Amino acid sequence: MKTIAFFDAKPYDKLSFANHFDEDINIRFFENKLNEDTVSMAACCDGVCAFVNDDINKTVIDKLSDYGVGIIAMRCAGYNNVDLKSARGRVSVVRVPAYSPHAIAEHSMGMILTLNRKLHKAYIRTRDHNFSLEGLCGYDLFGKTVGIIGTGKIGSVFADICKGFGMNIIGYDPIENDEFCGEYTELQELFSNSDIISLHCPLTKENRNIICKKTINKMKKGVCIINTSRGQLVNTDDLIDGIKSGQIGAAGLDVYEEETEVFFEDMSQEVIKDDTLLTLISMPNVLVTSHQAFLTGEALDGIAKTTMANLKEYFGGEKLTNEVVAK
Ligand code: NAI
Repeated sequence: MKTIAFFDAKPYDKLSFANHFDEDINIRFFENKLNEDTVSMAACCDGVCAFVNDDINKTVIDKLSDYGVGIIAMRCAGYNNVDLKSARGRVSVVRVPAYSPHAIAEHSMGMILTLNRKLHKAYIRTRDHNFSLEGLCGYDLFGKTVGIIGTGKIGSVFADICKGFGMNIIGYDPIENDEFCGEYTELQELFSNSDIISLHCPLTKENRNIICKKTINKMKKGVCIINTSRGQLVNTDDLIDGIKSGQIGAAGLDVYEEETEVFFEDMSQEVIKDDTLLTLISMPNVLVTSHQAFLTGEALDGIAKTTMANLKEYFGGEKLTNEVVAK
């Protein structure tokens, strides 16, 4: 029997993994995130299962290796929070490359519709018996241009959704995808021609803060920015300046640069100390969701299924289908 230390476990994780129970794998669920302070919880385990806000740096990997932990199973697509160079040759790293691109793409469109048609405002108004339409005017998505940065699995499904709305679709990606229904363009053109910009690329050293003062200034006035990818793609201070000046008309953020201590947690009884997050939340044309774009039953099931298959492959000594290694 192999034992897995499962970090940052939430009730919905326990439910979805229970549906993929395997008699050879014992999962110990911990609510803590995996980091230097908590890594000792993985001592005596054969593997760890981690998520987007765990901090799997060199120190953590050194300790996992000392404990004899052979595998880090990321139950997500991204792995920017794992020091792959430190892991190379010592601890295998696997991920779930695709579970439901529809979940994230649909959430992105949900954010656009909410912000544009001000559904978040309308919901509160009618509950307060205020049936005025003042200030709720949006625009037709039909005929507008959406710029998609990253046209992989999620970006191309999102493009299909936008096509259904009759939008002009342009995309930027260093690697073109035959499934993408839009037209490829240079990044600078995408910035200057898009009414809506949606980020669907992984976080890399090269694209950190791709949305910053310099690029925001090239965008159309009133542009709507949607980020369901990774918080650090956006320089949040520059985004706030852009919103204050009116250069940015709306922002939908499912991810946030400093989300680690706050997102996924109930902070309703606490004083939030992050003034930047508080500023964003206070803005009428900003919608913040708590990294929930993946959260559909289908996606959770896909994550559990692939993670268990990844672990079975590793413990069975098979080739790892979903391994990620440092370049
Ligand atoms: P994918 O690997 O299928 O597609 C990513 C695409 O981005 C690739 O085509 C790649 O060539 C492109 N790319 C890489 N660097 C780029 C750059 N600098 N500029 C433009 N394009 C670039 O990945 P997938 O499944 O579509 O996921 C995309 C991202 O979505 C993930 O990396 C992750 O950060 C995020 N994500 C967010 C979730 C959420 O719940 N909010 C859940 C799942 C993924």
